Amino acid sequence: MVVVGNQWGDEGKGKVVDWLTDQAHGVVRFQGGHNAGHTLVINGQKTALQLIPSGVMRPGVACYIGNGVVVDPSHLQLEIGRLEAAGVDVCSRLHISESCPLVLPSHVALDVAREARRESCGVGKIGTTGKGIGPAYEDKVARRAVRAQDLKHPQRLAEKLRETLDLHNFMLRAYLHADEVPFASTYARLLELAGLVTPMLADVGDLIYKCHVRGERLLFEGAQGTLLDIDHGTYPFVTSSNCVAGNAAAGSGIGPGYLDYVLGITKAYTTRVGSGPFPSELPIDVPGTVGHHLHTVGQERGTVTGRPRRCGWLDTAALKRANIINSTSGQCITKLDVLDGLAEIRMCVGYRLDGKVIDILPLDADDIARCEPMYESMPGWTQSTAGVTRWDALPQAARNYLDRIAELSGTPIAMVSTGPDREHTIVLQHPFGV
Ligand code: GDP
Ligand code: IMO
Ligand code: MG
Repeated sequence: MVVVGNQWGDEGKGKVVDWLTDQAHGVVRFQGGHNAGHTLVINGQKTALQLIPSGVMRPGVACYIGNGVVVDPSHLQLEIGRLEAAGVDVCSRLHISESCPLVLPSHVALDVAREARRESCGVGKIGTTGKGIGPAYEDKVARRAVRAQDLKHPQRLAEKLRETLDLHNFMLRAYLHADEVPFASTYARLLELAGLVTPMLADVGDLIYKCHVRGERLLFEGAQGTLLDIDHGTYPFVTSSNCVAGNAAAGSGIGPGYLDYVLGITKAYTTRVGSGPFPSELPIDVPGTVGHHLHTVGQERGTVTGRPRRCGWLDTAALKRANIINSTSGQCITKLDVLDGLAEIRMCVGYRLDGKVIDILPLDADDIARCEPMYESMPGWTQSTAGVTRWDALPQAARNYLDRIAELSGTPIAMVSTGPDREHTIVLQHPFGV
């Protein structure tokens, strides 16, 4: 089963993946890097994950990092250290593809310096997480990435690192007027990290194929969201990988025929971190307004960067595109409880653009920025839905809202999340069919 974000990220993918691991043998990450931030809450205890798959909190569940993920070994050390200090066994259950491109300190320097340059030139920042993700994917596509497998060969590592750093330092010095990244200390640090990483390196495609043959259930965990996809998102205000369900196969090393069910995670409203168009956006800083309610009640602040998340109404015209691109089998609507107490709930169901009415999000970010949202209104509810675990215990107005989302976005609702904790979950049709 593939689990993907249907909006601009932070839909609650981590919570849902963790919940589903009750029925799964393994969790596979297939794209992104530690730009992701997935928060899991188990019996009130919070765990924030970035690179490590959201199966790690369930003992015995195997965790795989597929070839489509860019890995910062220094960050990996930190994240493993944090989890192991909390008593979670990671290293014996984590398998990392040998083909993963590495995120180097120079990628971080390039990411940060480029954002500063965009700002000073008046082009406007992308609003990246500053983790070096974009520059690392650029090197992958340019066929000069230092890959995880190079950590096993110190001589080859030195040659590839020197070549890559030469280019990075030229860009940093001559184009971006930023500090260079020294070869010697970077190489020494990578050799040190090789000791941690190389025992976990594996042929991930083959391992997960064997799981499939044994009849084991696997979860492919997406990071970011469909509207941040490099091809299908609001380019250039996107991340640098394909976040759509179709990439679960290429990013993990198995064929698409092994993927059966696609679960789209959809927040009951919309949020976005970083720059870029957002037709149903509301101001978040005026107390007493809906935007302020969503921001404060939803605690909408980035896990990785701590930036406030922009908030707005649910956009079913954008969801429609996400459900088509992902061939979503079912949706999990998250954070329904955040809407408790709102007198009226709105949904953006289409846009006016150049005098025409359209019912699906356009492809061009400039067009999206000019879209005038068209809203449908529904009555809200006063009763609390927080922690509700049964569909028939939801207020009728909340059930009507969920039914309307399914109708407008073209995909049935399989699950509803009513709180951050693992147990705050309603199942209508279990995605594993159990
Ligand atoms: P992800 O990146 O898609 O995994 O999502 P994040 O973890 O970045 O953001 C989702 C946030 O909402 C986290 O803090 C979760 O603990 C929290 N969350 C998830 N589901 C629910 C829910 O149904 N209700 C509430 N109130 N919070 C939720
Ligand atoms: P999860 O997995 C929300 C956004 C950044 C920025 C753009 C590009 O937690 O949903 P990048 O550093 O990737 O080059 O930044 O993408 N972004 C996310 N927004 N959730 C995420 O991950 C994100 N990962 C990247 O804010 O707008
Ligand atoms: Mg997140």
